Amino acid sequence: MKKTMLWLNGKWQDTASSYDLKSPYSGEVIAQIAKATPTEVKQAIDGAEKAFQTFKKWTAYDRAEMLYRVVNLMRERKEELALIMADEAGKPIRTSRSEIDRTIATYQFTAEEAKRISGETIPMDAAPGITDRIGWTKREPLGVVAAITPFNFPFNLIAHKLGPAFAAGNTVVLKPATQTPLSALVMAELFKEAGLPDGALQIVTGSGAELSDGLITHPAVKKVTFTGSVPVGLSIKEKVGLRKLTLELGSNAALLIEPGIPLEKIVSRCVEGAFGFAGQVCISLQRIYVHASILDEFTKLFIEQTKKLRMGDPFEETTDIGPMIHVDELQRVIGWIKDAENQGAVVQTGGQIVGNGLEPAVLTNVSPDMNVVCAEVFAPIVTIIPYTSLEEGITMVNDSKYGLNAGIYTANLMDAMKAADDIQAGAIIINDIPTFRVDHMPYGGVKMSGYGREGVKYAVEEMTELKMITMKTKI
Ligand code: SIN
Repeated sequence: MKKTMLWLNGKWQDTASSYDLKSPYSGEVIAQIAKATPTEVKQAIDGAEKAFQTFKKWTAYDRAEMLYRVVNLMRERKEELALIMADEAGKPIRTSRSEIDRTIATYQFTAEEAKRISGETIPMDAAPGITDRIGWTKREPLGVVAAITPFNFPFNLIAHKLGPAFAAGNTVVLKPATQTPLSALVMAELFKEAGLPDGALQIVTGSGAELSDGLITHPAVKKVTFTGSVPVGLSIKEKVGLRKLTLELGSNAALLIEPGIPLEKIVSRCVEGAFGFAGQVCISLQRIYVHASILDEFTKLFIEQTKKLRMGDPFEETTDIGPMIHVDELQRVIGWIKDAENQGAVVQTGGQIVGNGLEPAVLTNVSPDMNVVCAEVFAPIVTIIPYTSLEEGITMVNDSKYGLNAGIYTANLMDAMKAADDIQAGAIIINDIPTFRVDHMPYGGVKMSGYGREGVKYAVEEMTELKMITMKTKI
């Protein structure tokens, strides 16, 4: 049985206690994972603070080269990395491979971005009476960044924190999700091999508020970046004080489908958006608002496509839908489906437990106050809801406490622009699903979906401090 350790100051360090990491698919114990104590968390932060004194002096060229080496090492070990993720996250192997491809792209973007961090000149003489002065800005690294990452993209969402942090010259203490520590720990080896200085990446595994609180409130930590649930995000926001903060939280992503779209061309894309990684994606398609004139046709096609999805072992090439991350989550969503049915919703297909997974469920006749509509389901459940005018559709999309990505299919340019203007979300995806994301676009939400932006260039901005310098040229 594999037993993991903490990654501290460039070495593996054993701990007094550990927990069992179980496969979400089989329930079998895969590994014993080290549990960090508050003392070890402090040790990690102190080490990262010390490493910062060296790493901050690295040139942009050296930081970029180190990140390019990570890209190359990931390319060499791609299949091994995908298998780790399939095992601990239960992510189907084809989807796991796509995530490794995306992660490689993310690190590549960060390598490129490391060379683009710059300031600007300020026209000092634009102020009345100011002459003989020049001014410019520069971006400086912050110091130690605390990164807390979720289980659903165990490689790429870590890359969105480590990559920009290192591109800018920060050091990081990473606390990966309890369910996906192995994907994080293997990256320690890759960064070491790529030449990252010891202590610049510290990985503390374990769980509990004590561990996270120790991490986010230590005085040396200058920035906290978190992806996860709204309640945890809110509690972090209360505790971080004046530290910089990025929160990527959840959503109940919506899509509008206007008349005049060839439905047979978009339906499999919508199915993919709703059920990819069993819906455990922050921008998973949860609410599909379909114009009433095309509702029946779309619903029929959508159900037909959904029934073709194959559930099963994440390691099988043919598997589309694997397990949910935890049986408690499965029980939660079964309860939400039952509640919806009791209030009049109709389950058109799916909704049954198969092994540790949920058969992809399509619900109609839903109402806005049902959890399957208004809360984040984070499961393979989608709702299909009719609307009669674009105005009404946009109002329904906006009737949410979340606002991460939203989508609209329309052949009408002015309607597309109206949606772009009026939908309250971090990104509006025109003629594709809200689940669309490439890794250099700004990513983040409004309302309860978050605070700040990721997407490599934008994360780098949030991981640097802008400094103004001005000089009198005559005394
Ligand atoms: C997320 O679940 O927040 C990330 C989605 C993605 O990167 O595609």
